[in-house]
Amino acid sequence: MHFDTVSEAIAPLIDDELIDDVLFQVKSGKEATLFCCRGARRAQAEFVAVKVYKPQQFRSFRNDSMYQAGRVILNARDARAAAKRTRHGREVKSSLWTNSEYETLRVLYRAGAAVPRPIGHSQGAIAMEWIGDPDAPAPQLKDVNLSRSDAQACFEQLLAEIELWLACNIVHGDLSAYNLLYDGQRLVAIDFPQASDPRFNANAYELLARDLGNVCRFFARWGVASEPDALAADLWDRFLRSEL
Ligand SMILES: Nc1ncnc2c1ncn2[C@@H]1O[C@H](COP(=O)(O)OP(=O)(O)OP(=O)(O)O)[C@@H](O)[C@H]1O
Ligand SMILES: [Mg+2]
Repeated sequence: MHFDTVSEAIAPLIDDELIDDVLFQVKSGKEATLFCCRGARRAQAEFVAVKVYKPQQFRSFRNDSMYQAGRVILNARDARAAAKRTRHGREVKSSLWTNSEYETLRVLYRAGAAVPRPIGHSQGAIAMEWIGDPDAPAPQLKDVNLSRSDAQACFEQLLAEIELWLACNIVHGDLSAYNLLYDGQRLVAIDFPQASDPRFNANAYELLARDLGNVCRFFARWGVASEPDALAADLWDRFLRSEL
């Protein structure tokens, strides 16, 4: 990623005394580059994960509209800019993703969900709890060998998490064995920029069912039997009833 983009996004985190050094780059993905940083005074952590978003135009295609449906841009000037393809418009859309991922982490962490503790953010980056060892991130679930009983336990933990997210009005929307880190005992869910609010997004049920489909298909490999459609319908039903 362009050096200027990274340093512009990271400098405010240093000024805010959240990090004081970038230790190494973990990974450059579709939409962001992840760095392991040394935590500064206000982070209250030795290591901090910093996710720097790629400017919109360099991100690989993702159907924004399915996720953005129902998301409200409160400021009229920003709303007009986001609708146009101006530079300011691109910045608005890009900070929409950053703010939205940070806000989602805050809500979920406060509710007790197994997500990285949010530490701070700038326009182009979020800082959060580092999940892993000093020299390497925790493995993605897709790369972990699970015994049948660990798989069953992880699967059940994950269903409880998905239900807790829903109770917080959040559907992940990109859940898979790529976006779950295994820290040795439990799963930690990451990568929430596209999360939707099921009260406002008309595609939320579809996204929830797809998340469950991905999860169930993955765990079937380790001998966990489940019925994703029935699970999605049941979770949704309970969500709707709690809304009454
Ligand atoms: N809090 C964290 N602690 C440690 N490692 C992390 C953390 N968050 C993310 N990572 C690592 O960085 C990778 C990319 O993060 P994330 O999935 O949020 O971004 P992404 O741009 O969507 O990447 P991808 O295209 O690979 O999904 C993760 O797969 C994981 O290995
Ligand atoms: Mg990811």
